[in-house]
Amino acid sequence: MDDKQKQMIEVLQQGLQDEMNSAYNYIALAGKYGNGAIKTDFLNYASDELNHASKLVRMLQQFDAEVEEIPVTADEMDDLYLYLIEYMAREESAVFYYEALEKLVQEPGMQRMCKEMQGEEQVHLHKMKELYQRVKEQNCYA
Ligand SMILES: [Fe+2]
Ligand SMILES: [Fe+2]
Repeated sequence: MDDKQKQMIEVLQQGLQDEMNSAYNYIALAGKYGNGAIKTDFLNYASDELNHASKLVRMLQQFDAEVEEIPVTADEMDDLYLYLIEYMAREESAVFYYEALEKLVQEPGMQRMCKEMQGEEQVHLHKMKELYQRVKEQNCYA
């Protein structure tokens, strides 16, 4: 295996860990905050992130990489407002992640997947910003 391939596998592992942690935390957020509509939104994000995680595992398999142990942890969520700020940053970095990954992978099918996932992260970022504004203006978590 050459250096480029090793680097690619590292990048995929990191992405996988981030996606699984995002999914886990969105589920926890849905459990803790919001009315039905917000809970549904968070559950949909969790479902998208799980989908992304599965795709990254498939990519790792295509590189014949051993998938390492993935630590998954739920963050402290005492303040939804602060949490949304943190998550906007994470969604933004997910957009850049898939943009970079698309350039790293050579195979057209994988590039297409990256583009798709990038689009979904953009939607997450956009919707997270809207929710953040609502929470900020109303100072309420409903
Ligand atoms: Fe994602
Ligand atoms: Fe996302």
